Amino acid sequence: MEKYSADQDQLLKTFRNACHVFVFTGAGVSRESGLPTFRDLDGEWRQYDPMTFATMEGFLQNPAMVWNMYRSRQKQIAEAQPNPAHITLARMEEHYPEFLLATQNVDDLHERAGSRRMVKIHGDVGQIRCIDCGEIYDAREFELPDEFDENTLPKCPDCSALCRPNIVWFGEYVPQEPLMAAVNAACTCDLMLIIGTSGEVSNGYGLAEYALGHGAKIVEVNPSEGALTHYAHFWVPEPAGIALPRIWEMC
Ligand code: OAD
Repeated sequence: MEKYSADQDQLLKTFRNACHVFVFTGAGVSRESGLPTFRDLDGEWRQYDPMTFATMEGFLQNPAMVWNMYRSRQKQIAEAQPNPAHITLARMEEHYPEFLLATQNVDDLHERAGSRRMVKIHGDVGQIRCIDCGEIYDAREFELPDEFDENTLPKCPDCSALCRPNIVWFGEYVPQEPLMAAVNAACTCDLMLIIGTSGEVSNGYGLAEYALGHGAKIVEVNPSEGALTHYAHFWVPEPAGIALPRIWEMC
């Protein structure tokens, strides 16, 4: 298998010849919008222990502390803007007849850039979910305080139980509907783009294997080599906000 190469013509040909594109993004695609990744040196999991801040057990032990972390993330996301990588992916969607973007990101920058044919496989930090009845609400429907204490935690309007951020935590299943859409796209695409993910979380392996097994070309855009790089026919070792607009412009 060719690794990333200086052979830009082959790379461009892959984009030009594709009809069915499947894009898989991670935190790196939002890095140039100022949002931290998880596992890089300045990543979230270096600052916050994921067992405390990204498990149901950690949440139940200290919901106000965990909510405060996600509340500050909600505000950071609200202030961030889509970057050229998000915008280019939204343009690509308009071009290809078959297209799906599956993101692991819980921010809304793909949507704000104009992506529509997309699924979120790790949930959405802008939504909150009742831990008892499972009802999901838009966080904007609630008057969330800047800082939570035990008395101001969000409660379900239906059943009064505690609510949590509607995202996938460690030890939890990925929601079936978006995951199946991603699997289906991986199995039928002729080009899979892997952008800004370390690939440390298990879905990435499966999706790349499906795509490869069905004969797709795989292009990875990531300044660093990661767990999925060995699947890639082309690895573009650059920030997504620089590489994607440049490649798309040349197509
Ligand atoms: P990681 O933090 O594991 O990986 C981020 C990746 O982005 C790394 O491979 C970086 O090299 C790369 N990167 C950094 N800057 C970039 C840039 N400008 N352009 C392109 N790539 C860049 O984040 P994820 O792979 O998304 O789960 O992590 C997967 C999941 O683990 C997350 O969805 C999160 C976490 O636990 C939930 O929040 C549910």
